[in-house]
This record gives sequence, structure tokens and C-alpha cells, in this order.
Amino acid sequence: MENKPIEKARIMVIDDDISMMDMLSIILSKYNHIVVPFTEPVSAIEALKSGSFDILIVNYLMSPVNGDRVVELVREFDKEIYIIMMSVHKDLAPSIDAMTNLDIQSYFEKSSRFDQLILTIQSGIKYTNQLRNIKNMNIQLEKYVVDFANVLLKTVDAKDNYTAAHSKRVCEYALRFSDVLNLDNKQKETLKLAGLFHDIGKIGISDNILTKNDTLTDDEYETIKYHPTIGANILSVADIFEDVCEIVNCHHERIDSKGYPNGISGNDIPYLCKILSICDSFDAITTKRSYKEVKTIQFALDELNKVKDTQLDKDLTEKFINMVKENLDSFIITDK
Ligand SMILES: [Fe+2]
Ligand SMILES: [Fe+2]
Repeated sequence: MENKPIEKARIMVIDDDISMMDMLSIILSKYNHIVVPFTEPVSAIEALKSGSFDILIVNYLMSPVNGDRVVELVREFDKEIYIIMMSVHKDLAPSIDAMTNLDIQSYFEKSSRFDQLILTIQSGIKYTNQLRNIKNMNIQLEKYVVDFANVLLKTVDAKDNYTAAHSKRVCEYALRFSDVLNLDNKQKETLKLAGLFHDIGKIGISDNILTKNDTLTDDEYETIKYHPTIGANILSVADIFEDVCEIVNCHHERIDSKGYPNGISGNDIPYLCKILSICDSFDAITTKRSYKEVKTIQFALDELNKVKDTQLDKDLTEKFINMVKENLDSFIITDK
């Protein structure tokens, strides 16, 4: 549903009493509300899934399913819609506890004056608009946080001239791979952010180590091993990165437990992290860095094949290799 403020509500009414529905339609339409009546709950619930309603009015005692059961089913997929429970008499209404548990915001007795219902609907409109305002503000705040993380990433890139482009490619590979693996939208979003920001912790590593042309000394290598933890710590300040932090912290762990920072193994490594590690390794091999020459795609696939089941997850690596082989033209060798 769009997060625009509403003035006139789109109201679904579920009741098996057709004369009551007709009356509600006439009265509410006088206030320019749009009333969509349903006499049976199954098609009503399906219609609600479209997310195009602002308020739900549901009768309590109905055949074959009572209103509280209808609300229970609605709350499984919609926690936000403003719900008004309606009954012939308050003695025949669900208890306050039952209404609270189902997050029913209001109650209307059919014998009451209809102006009371109009006021209740106005409250529902205010509630819905406030909820949408909060959502819009959260979306804006999340955008600011991601923008700021991008600033940090660009700062790393200013030192290393590699990290931002590498991160973007890792993110692209991860998203392509996530389609092959049929990940859901939430997993894809987490993987996208993890791909973009997995190396953000390099901001805490000194320039002479990050840009060194020769092989790193043992001490320098130990220093660079801190970048996953530094990155996870930076991202942990924002809720939007809650799921991403764990992946960032684990992106150099290995299936055989010889990785860092914690030396965890196998299934202790999160699924999305195993996916990211393959994409990260593939880009590292196919990208020309200052200290090594660019390699061919086939070389990179052979290297991945060598480390499946030691560094990387075997099953996922085989799937990744197949994906690249089937789409060879779209995977390029990058000269940083
Ligand atoms: Fe890394
Ligand atoms: Fe990386």
C-alpha cells in the first residue's frame, strides 16, 4: 500500500446481514468514504491481501465463521489495518481481552447512533495516517543511514581505490546468485547490503597495509583480519543493518574452520554468509589488484572448485560455478 495520507477511507465491511450492509454503504458514502461490502469471509480476506483497504468493519456473530476468527486470519498477514468489530449488542460482543489480543482497535454496537461510527472511522483515519507518517520517516531514516554507510565506503575507496567497485560487483554477483537459489525478498535485501558493505571495516586498517604491493607480513595479515569485526561494529549502530552485521563479521570464515575472526565451521557459518563468501572470492580472483595479475574466468572457476568443501560450501560453490558457466558472456574480467 502507498504511504500517502488519506482523507476519505476505503472501507471493507464483512457482514452476513445484507440490510445492515446496505445501510452502512448509504451512510458512509455520504461522508465520501468508499464502502466495499462482503457477505462471506473467504473472498473478503483474499481482497484484503491486496492491501488497498484503510479500515475493516467486521460483524462478530456470523455464519459460518465468526468475526473474531476472521480477524485472526487477517492479522496473520496484516498487522496494521484499523479494525472495528461490530455486534448487535454489547452482551454479544467478544471480551475486551479477546479484542485486545487480536489488536481490534474499536467496537461499534449496531443499535448505537451512526454518528458514533463516523467518529470511530475518523479516529481510524487519523491512526492510519500517523502509522504511514512513521513508516515514511523510517524509510527516510534508513535511506540516510545507507547513504552515510556509502560515504564511509567511499572513504575506504579513497585509500584503496578498489573497495567500492569490488563491493558493488560482489553485491551484483550475490543478487544474481540469489535468484538462482530462489531466496526471498528479505534475504535478497540483506545480501545486497552485506555485499555493498562487507569490507567497510577496511576503514580501520592503515593505508600502507591496504595498498601494499608485496605479500603481507604475518603481522600485517593479522591486522587485516580485524576488518570483518571492525565493519560489523560500525554497522551495528543502525537497526537496518541488524541481519547484515553477522554476515559482515563472518565473511572470511571457512567451512573447514581455518578462517577468521572466530574460526567457526560448517553450518555455524550463516547461509547468506556462505553465499557472499563465494561471490567475494570470485571477484577477488577475477580482479586485477596491484600485487597480482588479472586471471581468466576459467582460472577463477578452477580456483573455486579447488577450495569447495575447505574454504567454501561445496554445494553452493558448484551451483555458483554452474551459474557462471551458463552465463559466461555476462561475467567480465575486471582491471580494477
Ligand atoms: Fe573482506
Ligand atoms: Fe571483499
